[in-house]
Amino acid sequence: MANKEFDEIVNRRHSGSIKWNVKDGELPMWVADMDFKTAPAVVEALRKRVEHGVFGYCAPDQEWADAYVSFYGDRYGWNINPKDLVFCLGVVPVLSSSVRALTSVGDNVVLFTPVYNIFFNSIVNNKRVPLPVPLLEENGAFHLNYPAIEKAFADEKTTLCFFCNPHNPVGKIFAKEEMGRLADLARKHGVRILSDEIHGPVSRPGHPYVPFLSLDGVEDVVYSAISPTKAFNLAGIHTAAIVMPNEEIRKKVERQINTDEVAEPNVFSCVASTAAFNEGREWLDNLNEYVFANRDYAETYIQENIPELIPIHGDATYLLWVDCRKICADSRPFLEFLREKTGLFVSAGEIYGPGGEGFVRINLAAPRSLVEDGLRRLKEGVVSFRNKR
Ligand SMILES: Cc1ncc(COP(=O)(O)O)c(C=O)c1O
Repeated sequence: MANKEFDEIVNRRHSGSIKWNVKDGELPMWVADMDFKTAPAVVEALRKRVEHGVFGYCAPDQEWADAYVSFYGDRYGWNINPKDLVFCLGVVPVLSSSVRALTSVGDNVVLFTPVYNIFFNSIVNNKRVPLPVPLLEENGAFHLNYPAIEKAFADEKTTLCFFCNPHNPVGKIFAKEEMGRLADLARKHGVRILSDEIHGPVSRPGHPYVPFLSLDGVEDVVYSAISPTKAFNLAGIHTAAIVMPNEEIRKKVERQINTDEVAEPNVFSCVASTAAFNEGREWLDNLNEYVFANRDYAETYIQENIPELIPIHGDATYLLWVDCRKICADSRPFLEFLREKTGLFVSAGEIYGPGGEGFVRINLAAPRSLVEDGLRRLKEGVVSFRNKR
């Protein structure tokens, strides 16, 4: 076991947490935040900022940009040019503003399903059309379907593609070759790719994720959204960045995030991300050891104790994607039953679009004892569900 500090159970009830707004006795393993305290260095930096006592308007400073540049450069060999780096309050605001900046009403936005459900909201809420291209599934591994992507990109109404790397919910790290081929298709058909890399820093020890923009020659069509919020559990702080080497994309998206009023940090946004990237690296390595030990434990537990379910092996994210199609074609009635019977609350695969039917997503970023509790409840739920029928 990597690090005992992650064994601590922090009571998140009555802390304003969305995830833990559940009945007594229920165990929430759904929304993607972690039940761990953030890195001590982040808490210390925030404490100092609070003690300063003055909370007027603020802007990202040089230290903030340097922290991103050195973290992604040192860990992933990605040389971000600081002039391409723009602050934004969150990754979802980047998605929604991008739709407004780079597409017209009625245009298609391509996405590779099953995928983070809010991608759909950012498209539909702006009266654009989500064009799902399901991932190909082969013996528990997921791949891009290039012929189907080419067809979707060739549609004259397709102007933008949302890419999720690493992929939520299937936990895949895309390889350079896969992304290079995708960028070639985008260029050929005049499509821009927004690479959402919010889960990037959460990966199996020894398996770093590959930033899309670390590839040579993709800067004309690709731009990326990055953030410390998943890896350091800072979602409630609201902080992210966009890397836009292409000048036309940068001008349009930067203008749009300003119009949408999501371009200015709060007092804590930059303090937290700077401390995380500069001083939280060792903590992050320990977190990844802990999370991937949880993933391995959960996979083995399911294989040995719940033979009806198939866990999908992944090298990134703390989200386990589980194939439940042997017991249900639609996971929603099963999950209603599971919550009612055992109190376990996980996410239904259907919300992630085509290809998600009959799967569930389980958040494993929790102390091991809670993960064990969750898996026991899952087993009990599956046994009762089977006997019910
Ligand atoms: C792929 C992906 N993008 C974005 C977000 C949310 O980003 P933010 O909180 O910065 O808006 C999530 C949260 O689960 C996510 O999984």
